Amino acid sequence: MPPPAAQTGHAQQSPLSDNAGIPVTLSDHPAITADRAHVWHHLTQHRRFETTDPLVFVEGQGLRLRDAPGREFLDATSGGVWTVNLGYGRASIAQAIHDQLVRLPYFAGTAGTVPAALYAARLVSKMPGLSRVYYSNSGSEANEKVFKMVRQIAHRHRGGRKSRILYRARDYHGTTIAALSAGGQPQRAAQFGPLTPGFVEVPHCLEYRRQWPEGDYGARAARAIEEVILREGPDTIGLLCLEPITAGGGVIVPPEGYWPLVQDICRRHDILLHIDEVVCGLGRTGAWFGYQHYGVKPDFVTLAKGVASGYAAVACTVTTEAVFDLFKDDPNDPLGQFRDISTFGGCTAGPAAALEVLRIIEDEGLVENAARMGARLLDNLRALQARHTAIGEVRGKGLLVGIELVSDRGLRTPAPEAAVQQVVAEALARGVILGATTRAIAGFNNTLCLAPALIATADDIDRIADVIDRSLAHVFGTADTRTTPCE
Ligand SMILES: Cc1ncc(COP(=O)(O)O)c(C=O)c1O
Repeated sequence: MPPPAAQTGHAQQSPLSDNAGIPVTLSDHPAITADRAHVWHHLTQHRRFETTDPLVFVEGQGLRLRDAPGREFLDATSGGVWTVNLGYGRASIAQAIHDQLVRLPYFAGTAGTVPAALYAARLVSKMPGLSRVYYSNSGSEANEKVFKMVRQIAHRHRGGRKSRILYRARDYHGTTIAALSAGGQPQRAAQFGPLTPGFVEVPHCLEYRRQWPEGDYGARAARAIEEVILREGPDTIGLLCLEPITAGGGVIVPPEGYWPLVQDICRRHDILLHIDEVVCGLGRTGAWFGYQHYGVKPDFVTLAKGVASGYAAVACTVTTEAVFDLFKDDPNDPLGQFRDISTFGGCTAGPAAALEVLRIIEDEGLVENAARMGARLLDNLRALQARHTAIGEVRGKGLLVGIELVSDRGLRTPAPEAAVQQVVAEALARGVILGATTRAIAGFNNTLCLAPALIATADDIDRIADVIDRSLAHVFGTADTRTTPCE
């Protein structure tokens, strides 16, 4: 693709969370005109498109995207929401989908299809201890399957007890009403009540925003989960649902010692452990799955975004044979099987694409590349931290990285959302698409989110860091070139 055309003006919002308009004279490009007139974008205040153009993308290659007016961008978000993990323009994935669709596009989940069967086997070979895959078509839906399985287990096997579900502050599990009820981001659920009963929040584990004075923060944050269990009654709780590393809630890498204790708490209180790998799964964090950094043995794992790298809609709820067996114990019970339907869980494009995605990840060594490039990105950003007092903390694992911005580093005062959005807009104007937490947690929508595709090169990583450097300087003032220690 040719180099980007010169950018002018400031967009208002992050493409991760909002369709950013770059103020230009209103375009008469047919796609932009039609978009402005007829498309309702997610998370977007449309009033701005009365004076700006919506971003409308036309094509992509690798990490590069081109929009309708012909501007080129380097996408540090993998499609806005950490999805296009293998980058744009992958002809072999498109070919795999094409070949499968002309052979057999669909049959509902009551029957099998060849790609669904083969992908399930390939997937669980990467997940020791897990053996069953239930297909659906979004992360929210995959998570709802877990909630339904746990509720059904409670009704059939626990005398109606253990139907309540724990979720963690700052985590996100989807957009449907039940998934929002399991969401630790209050602004996402605001104005959508009444929510689904039976969901209970446990505290987050972000050490930078300490909730307790103890030195061993991992142990303290895990103990906080147990305190909630004891308060609510262990015989009422059937499931603990957590992201392995919180993504959209501010990129929160759990502190040392947290996960083994969480596992132990679940075992002691007979609570099933559900790990939502919708963002972290399939290489993003420099391991096949986020939980595998911590030696955790989950009862459920959910996957969506990266499964087909955005080339098809497919999600997986993966569980153990022990959970599966609970649904076939009594063939004479008409309500004994898992009575759930996912129409589009029967599309074959998803697993056909997913098989090719797995092959590419292995053949191109992308789990390892994510670990290597992630370390480079963290190093680059920590170097910037020494010069930009607006950077409160840099955190992440692999190519899932967050930069928490502050207006006072000593006091750790969160930078206002508007300033964070201005950094995103400045980066966009310089040709790099960043993400940021928006409208998630009041007062704490202050983290830039980076999730470049797993194919990112050292040059891509350095360019992203360079544009962040210049954008921070523009918004927060000239970088402080004295090397000051970072808290
Ligand atoms: C951790 C996590 N789980 C679940 C979801 C919901 O996935 P979907 O938007 O495909 O329903 C998301 C979406 O961002 C997510 O970040």
